[in-house]
Amino acid sequence: MIDLNRKVTVPELRAFKASRVPITMLTAYDASLARRIDQAGVDCVLVGDSLGNVIQGRSSTLPVTVDDVAYHARAVARGLDRALLVADLPFMSYHDRPTAMHSAACLMRAGAGMVKLEGGAPVVEVVTGLVEQGIPVCAHLGLTPQHVHRLGGYRVQGREQAMADALVEDALALQAAGAALLVVECIPTKLADRVTTSLDIPVIGIGAGAGVDGQVLVSYDMLGISPGRAPRFVRDFLSAGGSIQQALQAFVGAVREREFPSPAESFE
Ligand code: KIV
Repeated sequence: MIDLNRKVTVPELRAFKASRVPITMLTAYDASLARRIDQAGVDCVLVGDSLGNVIQGRSSTLPVTVDDVAYHARAVARGLDRALLVADLPFMSYHDRPTAMHSAACLMRAGAGMVKLEGGAPVVEVVTGLVEQGIPVCAHLGLTPQHVHRLGGYRVQGREQAMADALVEDALALQAAGAALLVVECIPTKLADRVTTSLDIPVIGIGAGAGVDGQVLVSYDMLGISPGRAPRFVRDFLSAGGSIQQALQAFVGAVREREFPSPAESFE
């Protein structure tokens, strides 16, 4: 049984999956919104390198540095009582073990309880090293924005059978290396379901359908703050009216009820 009032810990994440209670995750970059998100009952708060887009106004996450993420993680940490704080390792901050150790240490000292990194087989050794040093790791597969130039844009991943099989292999390797959580971004619902049933660790989706173990969104997207056309997988929880607090609570309710995302907010 999960006690939804207790502070969320890394070992408890598996209990969410075992109890089939969907995990809720939102990004935050400052203490005030972090406090609101925490009070709404969101389980994990991510200081994403999406801060490059939504805070710094850049066109990709590539210019974001460890110092940038650490600065925002310190602020967010002051706003949280219950939620687990996850912080993104930015582009080229974990390309080898010593660099990854140094970067992750900065983020853990800033208040993170877990670090997130992007990629499959090439980062498995780094994941092993971080976990050996007691640093919990969230992996990230599918559309990995730090690889946007190699991917040729922000588009759905894993539609071809070979790519789908490779993604499942990567997910299993990351779990074996000790990753405690996996984010899958912009992949077909069927593939996300396959990854979810193949793994013991929870799988958090963004644009990955409702069959995964939890959902993450960029808070500025789900509050309708981000400029431009929102991606298909985003729901503006504030547009129905009410307060920011009500929008955050509506997100938690919709994820827990598996009412978000709808098929129209997912990919085939
Ligand atoms: O940086 C970020 O906000 C993320 C989420 C989109 C998962 O990685």
